[in-house]
Amino acid sequence: MSDEKLPILLVPDARLRLKARAVEAGDDDSVRDLSARMLATMYAAPGIGLAAPQVGSGLRLIVLDVGPKDAPEPMVLVNPEILAASREMAIREEGCLSLPGQYADVERPERVKVRWRGLDGMRHETEAEGLLGVCLQHEIDHLNGVLFVDHLSPLKRNMMLRKLAKELKARTFDE
Ligand code: NI
Repeated sequence: MSDEKLPILLVPDARLRLKARAVEAGDDDSVRDLSARMLATMYAAPGIGLAAPQVGSGLRLIVLDVGPKDAPEPMVLVNPEILAASREMAIREEGCLSLPGQYADVERPERVKVRWRGLDGMRHETEAEGLLGVCLQHEIDHLNGVLFVDHLSPLKRNMMLRKLAKELKARTFDE
């Protein structure tokens, strides 16, 4: 199993806008390797969640770790889906490794019920709220080509995308 890091795609890379396809039985080996590399990439960034489309893969696969820094709790979710969402909403600040340096308050359902398969093929289901709930929704969005800025008003989104473009351009000149 390789833990070699992968390059993270940045907005406006068109691959971030594609809908990912379900992982099938034949994908097992590549998913094992890909998820290990995604975790290494996420921890190095550092980040708490990463979806396969962010590293150029079209598979429905996400990794995350919302555990304390001194006690890592890596999670690998294959074909995760949101089964139900609470009517109550909650607001939390979000960022994304594909939009470095950009943060905004995003409103989402407070609780979600999520189902997925583990690397071992075992089926899992959980109800999540707080940081885990937000992280799951944010990463599953990525599998559908949706970014956290899509939840903002058009005005706020465009402001943020323009700011990101400017910062990335400045970064290129620095190098
Ligand atoms: Ni993200």
